[in-house]
Formats: sequence, structure tokens, C-alpha cells
Amino acid sequence: MKFSFAKPSLPASGVLAVTVAADRSLGLIGRELDQKTGGALARAMAAARFNGKKDETLTLLAPAGTELDRILLVGIGKSADLTDLILQAAGGAVAVALDKVADEASLLVELPEGATLSPAAAAAEVAFGAQLRSYKFDKYRTNDRKSDKKEPKPSLRKLTLLVEDDGAAKAAFKKLDTLADAIRFTRDLVSEPANVIYPESLAEKTKELEQFGVEVEILDQKKLRKIGMGALLGVAQGSAFEPRVVVMRWNGNPEADDKRPVAFIGKGVTFDSGGISIKGAAGMEDMKWDMGGSATVIGTMYALAARKAKVNAIGIVGLVENMPSGTAQRPGDIVTSLSGQTIEVINTDAEGRLVLADCLWYAQDVYKPKLMIDLATLTGAVIVALGHEHAGLFANDDDLAMNLTAAGLKVGQPVWRMPLGDAYDKEIESPAADMKNTGSGGGAGSIVGAQFLKRFVNEVPWAHIDIAGVAWAKKDGATVPKGASAFGVRLLDRFVAEFHEA
Ligand code: BES
Ligand code: MN
Ligand code: ZN
Repeated sequence: MKFSFAKPSLPASGVLAVTVAADRSLGLIGRELDQKTGGALARAMAAARFNGKKDETLTLLAPAGTELDRILLVGIGKSADLTDLILQAAGGAVAVALDKVADEASLLVELPEGATLSPAAAAAEVAFGAQLRSYKFDKYRTNDRKSDKKEPKPSLRKLTLLVEDDGAAKAAFKKLDTLADAIRFTRDLVSEPANVIYPESLAEKTKELEQFGVEVEILDQKKLRKIGMGALLGVAQGSAFEPRVVVMRWNGNPEADDKRPVAFIGKGVTFDSGGISIKGAAGMEDMKWDMGGSATVIGTMYALAARKAKVNAIGIVGLVENMPSGTAQRPGDIVTSLSGQTIEVINTDAEGRLVLADCLWYAQDVYKPKLMIDLATLTGAVIVALGHEHAGLFANDDDLAMNLTAAGLKVGQPVWRMPLGDAYDKEIESPAADMKNTGSGGGAGSIVGAQFLKRFVNEVPWAHIDIAGVAWAKKDGATVPKGASAFGVRLLDRFVAEFHEA
């Protein structure tokens, strides 16, 4: 969607959205509109029991006294309680309510007295929310497009925000729009099917980050064999697609006293059939988004570089496809990881941890980061524990866990810390190798998975975020339409901004 910003004035015609605060309070121009329509706004709000609470919307059609086709009232709640997230949700609500009824619209952003945010900042947040919520992945729907040509279906393409300091609003939005670009890039990667996004093609996609100054290095199968990523290669060996590992580097703070980078590591299983330990047919198509962790890492690097963040960051993604075939890894196989530790593969469907084991080791060994954060759709068990509301957080460092939790809350991507502990580690002891890749049936599947990863982390502060429950939204949310959520991009961007930027 395209956004523009202009000084507030009542549009003569078309579609107008207006923010309304708690207790039906309108701003100056809102009240002017109410007068022009002979009090239609106030009457409609009362009749519909619309109070101006957040998440409330109310539509008035063809109101007398103006040539406007439609007025949409959007609640933003009490001025004292106003947050970025509430404003973003209001923008999302506007995008949904107007999408099928107008090609373009104006949105009057007026804040009631007592709001701490400036109207300009608020307008930028509202636009950001509308931008995020209006994401669509419909490039393969050729029928829609054909009928579009005959009789174009309306779809909101342009929103003009009416706000006093339109220049400041425009500047604030520009930064947010760059983040929205990174999120769209991430969502596209996750939404693409596995016949389009496979290790090699996903690796190619990361080269688009070079335009922002990211250095991209792609390690191919030959190289991975040479350096000895036996755990990752074992997962990949059943697929017709070769694996790739991509290292993305953003040196945004070359003058830093401590030049060590923050490192983000992502699970990129472009399709997880389970391998020989094959999954059931029901819902298997979901496993095209088993590369969600890698997409989040790529999107985070995009966001950081595109806004020229003053940070040194690296992103490493392990890209494989997990398939059953005559060359596939068997249950019982023993592989030697990059760390030298051997792993007995009990279940070929516990593949993400095998991929991450080698990527974590590589990140730590080659780049000596000051901290590591991995993201992975690692376990179904994290959905049992936390549902789709929180991602699971595991960490060997309390500060890191606290900072990630704080950043997540601010951007509406909450994480909940879960425990690690020696008792869980015992679950993965193997008589045949240094460890096995699944527990012995003692439950706590997500913790056991995290415990496995911990065996590939030395002294460095490390966090693991299990995003299996949040990477794909099963229903529409305030600023995340059903589908790929890009969970983690906003969180990590905020985490860097607040805690690791010069
Ligand atoms: N990719 C799956 C986890 C997953 C499940 C992600 C549902 C998203 C939604 C992962 O590779 C997997 O298969 N995990 C197994 C581990 C088990 C074999 C120890 C699981 O969760 O069942
Ligand atoms: Mn699996
Ligand atoms: Zn998987």
C-alpha cells in the first residue's frame, strides 16, 4: 500500500477514517465533521454502542451534509493508555475495514487531550499497522487477476494520513516502512511453497541483501563436506536438493571498542517431511514453513542493514530439505557433527536440532560472537506448552533472556522463558554415541530439544527461541494477517536497537 501525509482538513468526497478516543471523544476536525453531518457521528456511536475503545470500528454510509461515501470510526481507547501497539492495531483495523470497499481513503489521526505521543508519531504508527496488516500473498492466484481486468475489484491501495505535522509523520513513517519492507520480505520467503523455495533458491534470495551492504557468503555442499558439517549433511542427504549454509555479515559499527558481532542463527528446513521417520499426511503441507527461523534471521539482517543500524551482526542459516529416499539418513545412523561430537539419530524428524548444532558451532568457532540467538520451528511440543501466544525462550544467560523478553513485549511478539537443566540433559544420553537426537520419552520435548542445542554452545551467552507455535498465524491478528507472521524480525530489530546499538 502507498501512504502519503497531509495537513488535516475535511475531504469533500470519498472515504474517510477518523480516530476516536474512549468515551466517544473526537478531535477538533472530528467534531467539525459531526457538526456538518448534523450530529450523525455522535448519534451513530450511541446507537451502535461504539465507545471508542481500542479494536472497535463503526461505519457510516453516505452521511447527509457531506459528499463523503463512507466514514469509518476507529477506536483507540483512553489517551493515557495509548501505545504504539494500539495505534498499529487501529491502522490494521482500517486496512481491513476499507480493503474491499475503496481503492483509496483518508485517515484523520487526532489524539485526545492527555496523550503522551505526538500526533505525528501516532500517525506513523497507524500507517505502519495498516501496512503490516494489508500484506497479501496472492501471486499464484491467476484467476483473481484475470477477473480483475474485466471488472477491477476494489482493494485499498492508497491511504492519506491527515495530521498536523505531516512532515514529521512522513519522516517517522519512513523508518517504520523500511522495517515493514523487511517483514514483507520475510513473509514472502515463508509463504512460498517448497518447490519454489529450496536450499539453493533460498540462498540466492539472501543476495538481495547485498543492496543494503550486507556481505553474503554461500557455503555449498562441497564446502560443507570439507569443513565437516556432518549433522547438517545427514539431514540433507535424502533430498534431491543440495544443502546450503549462508553467512550474512553487517558491519554497521566498525569503530566499536568491542567489535565482536551479535549472531543470529536460523533453522532453514525448506520442507520437513520427517524423513524416514515420516510424518502423517494431515497438515504436512505446513512443513513448507519449517524454514521460518532462517527467514526471520534473513529478515532481521535486512532490517538492520536497511536502516544502517550501528551494530556488527552476523546471520547464519542452515538450509536443507528433509526427505525420505534411498539415500536418506536412517534411524540409528551415527553422524559426526562439526564440533566433533557424535550423534545417534533416533528419529529423523528431529532434524532441526541437527542443522542448528553445526550452525551454532560454526558461528561460535569462526565469528567469536558476543552473543548468539537461534530461531527455529523446532518442536510441536512448544505448541502444547504455550499455544500460539508466546514463543518458547531458552537461555544460558539471565540478562539476555530479560532483554529479549522486554523487546518482545514492546513489539507484540512475546516470548516466555522455559527452563534448562541437567536432569533434562540426561534424556539424550546414548549408549552408542556422545548423544542421541531425541529424548527417552520423559516428555518436555521442547526443553530436551533446547538441551540438545546447548551441547553445541560453549561459554558465550546464548538464547534459543522456539517459534513453532508462532511462525504461522492460523487466524488474522491485529497487524498480522493469517499466514506467515515473520515472528522475531520486529523483536530482534528492537532488541538490537535497545541493547546493542552504539
Ligand atoms: N519442524 C518440526 C516441528 C514443528 C511441528 C514445527 C509443528 C511447526 C509445527 C520438527 O522438525 C519436528 O518434527 N519435531 C518433532 C521432534 C520429535 C521427533 C522429537 C516433533 O515436534 O514432533
Ligand atoms: Mn522434523
Ligand atoms: Zn522440522
